[in-house]
Amino acid sequence: MTERHELDMNRMPEHIAIIMDGNGRWATRQGMERSQGHFHGYRTLHNTVIQAAELGVGALSAYTFSSENWSRPDNEVTGLMDLVVMALRAEIEVMMEEGVRIIRSGRREGLPQEVLGEFDYASEQTQGNDRITLNICLNYGGRNEIVDAARQAAQMAFDGKIAPKEIDENLLSSLMYHPELPDPDLLIRTAGEMRVSNFLLWEIAYSEIYVTQTLWPDFSEDELVRAIAAYQSRTRKYGAVVDEQ
Ligand code: IPE
Ligand code: IPE
Ligand code: MG
Repeated sequence: MTERHELDMNRMPEHIAIIMDGNGRWATRQGMERSQGHFHGYRTLHNTVIQAAELGVGALSAYTFSSENWSRPDNEVTGLMDLVVMALRAEIEVMMEEGVRIIRSGRREGLPQEVLGEFDYASEQTQGNDRITLNICLNYGGRNEIVDAARQAAQMAFDGKIAPKEIDENLLSSLMYHPELPDPDLLIRTAGEMRVSNFLLWEIAYSEIYVTQTLWPDFSEDELVRAIAAYQSRTRKYGAVVDEQ
């Protein structure tokens, strides 16, 4: 097993994206309600953010609620929204102590006013923190994000600010929800599913992917270190021919 001190500190991923999957299975296996799985998942995220900051990771994007998750039963959706509000309130002190800047990705439309209010408050309070950025992806869809960027580009062209041929990768990248974040170096998915489920479609073009069978509430620092070790063992080629000695 790789220990934390065996990681190459000069090759840390700057940005890790996580599809935190498996809360429901975790709860069901223990005879608990799915909501209990989500609560334990929140505790896991709390721990993971602190561990990532200690390892020198600059940004963590956490898939918390997708644009497709609205199709879940009403009580699960309401429970998740309430959990987000509770967690934001409970965590603000820790985020200040740990130097966590919190930001949100996803459409505002559809989210309860209370959730938006807590996010606006937390983002404002933590905007000066610079140890790690926690990007909470809530009501987030990768296709929505690309559509929203395309609409802005179309509007700019319509207003005569740019010519259509000026719409290129750089312009679209600059119109994504958080262009200040580097693209994720590493995408982790827990609970074994081999799919991206509409997460950061634009940004993960060249991310290294790590899938673990571990369910999100059981994800630990050992797992995080293992994922980073796997990332450090990869050869990133970006389409070029690279000597893999
Ligand atoms: C991930 O866990 C959390 C959310 C999608 C909100 P799930 O709730 O999808 O857990 P499984 O996949 O049912 O086990
Ligand atoms: C992806 O998990 C979304 C989040 C982790 C928030 P899902 O459980 O919704 O994904 P699918 O349905 O298995 O693709
Ligand atoms: Mg799931």
